Amino acid sequence: MEWTLGYWVVLVMSSSSCGWCLYKVIKWIVEGKEKKIGVPRGSSGWPFIGETLHFIASGYSSRPVTFMDKRKNLYGRVFKTHILGRHLIVSTDQDVNKVVLQNHGNVFIPYYPKSITELLGKSSILQMNGALQKRLHALIGGFLRSPQLKARITKDIENSFKLSLSTWKHKHLVFIQEETKQITFEILVKVLMSIDPGEDLNFLKREFGEFIKGLICLPIKFPGTTLYKCLKAKERLLKMVQRIVEERKMAMEKTEEKGNLVKDAIDLLLRDTGESNETQQRLPLDFISGNIVEMMIPGEDTVPMVMTVAVKFLSDNPVVLTRVVEENMELKKLKALSGDEYAWTDYVSLQFTQNVISETLRMANIINAVWRKALKDVEIKGYLIPKGWCVLASFSSVHMDEENYENPYKFDPWRWEKTGAAVNSNIFTPFGGGQRLCPGLELSRLEISIFLHHLVTTYRWEAEADEILNFPTVKMRKKMPITVMPIDH
Ligand code: HEM
Repeated sequence: MEWTLGYWVVLVMSSSSCGWCLYKVIKWIVEGKEKKIGVPRGSSGWPFIGETLHFIASGYSSRPVTFMDKRKNLYGRVFKTHILGRHLIVSTDQDVNKVVLQNHGNVFIPYYPKSITELLGKSSILQMNGALQKRLHALIGGFLRSPQLKARITKDIENSFKLSLSTWKHKHLVFIQEETKQITFEILVKVLMSIDPGEDLNFLKREFGEFIKGLICLPIKFPGTTLYKCLKAKERLLKMVQRIVEERKMAMEKTEEKGNLVKDAIDLLLRDTGESNETQQRLPLDFISGNIVEMMIPGEDTVPMVMTVAVKFLSDNPVVLTRVVEENMELKKLKALSGDEYAWTDYVSLQFTQNVISETLRMANIINAVWRKALKDVEIKGYLIPKGWCVLASFSSVHMDEENYENPYKFDPWRWEKTGAAVNSNIFTPFGGGQRLCPGLELSRLEISIFLHHLVTTYRWEAEADEILNFPTVKMRKKMPITVMPIDH
């Protein structure tokens, strides 16, 4: 018996040490090769899991850029690592990020984890490249940025928030994360397909909720798995959106009356003849429906999370809150005196509130990085990104770098009044940049401004203790509960 046990112990030890030695040899050969071709320095960590555990642990901590900072100090601003099943090069350098984002000649293409690519579909704007991406980006960006849309949607946003806020005083606790999510979803659906509250909206909310669960899950697809369920939800979503697109197309042909006003994103894509670009073709109906569904992804969670984290920062910083209240009250009084309605420009001219939004975007890092794959060898600032490698351009590292922002962990909206901090610079990229700069940037800032204005001019609040979680996406641990007290005017 003793002999048998001893035999197994020796066998396991020798085979595992052999395996370890083999792993070390392979690692040594691979690293030697990488060094020769000039891949940035770094570590591949443990076999299979690489440095994933460190990466996740730092994501759960209060300072998620610790993972990047440690490696930046060891290897320099651009380093290699192995996380989430991939060897990749991480850039914490704003100049390198800029080149990656600008993507001249389509060198860097989007490279999302497998579960995401499976869900998005090949013709999603988030995955496509080349002329079609440019065409769609220009169309959507032009529409979302247009003063006509902003003027029209401002009324809808105001009404939605006012209605929601009027119910808060009856609630014991208000969960900001939940409330803002409901409202911003309604607004998004309105902008994309002009659906008002009702059965269709409830159906979309339910199915989209199921669909979005699959974005961060194991890429295993058979009945019962998350990925399977969410692909089914996507099928149902698509069916509904296809029906709407077809109805709208028929209505358009029947009336032949198009007018100048683009109603929503469906209208925009149906009207486009492709004349302004080399394709010269109309967009197929199934392509339009697919993209409408997929365009809900970048807009759905981001805007309400910025609103939620802004409430957290304001609750923690009473001096900032007082200044925001003063500025917004002033506008409210002016409007009451003149009897005029609010214009969208009123909201975005609240300069201090805009600085609060910029500071929230800098510190919250709702989209902390973008993933790309290099289609050929590229050298940037002396760092080589070899063909086929994945590169992660980290925005959060740049936003939290003390060389870029003095005292970066301090919530300081006043820094945006000084020179050095500018909302359109390389060191501030919450909406990405270059060819894929978020087309929803201005609309998002407008929505957040309207929310903050009506919140701070309607209520005082007390926030319960809560904390920001950064992994896998930014969320509040307790959904940001507050109790509100109406302001006496
Ligand atoms: C605060 C809110 C938002 C943030 C922080 C944000 C951030 C971003 C970022 C970083 C990208 C670039 C992704 C990349 O380069 O791979 C992006 C792209 C995009 N965003 Fe946003 N976004 C926000 C809101 C919205 C909204 C409200 C919409 C739609 C109504 C939207 C639609 C899009 C689309 C369609 C793209 C893809 C553009 C392309 O690849 O050409 N976003 N967003």
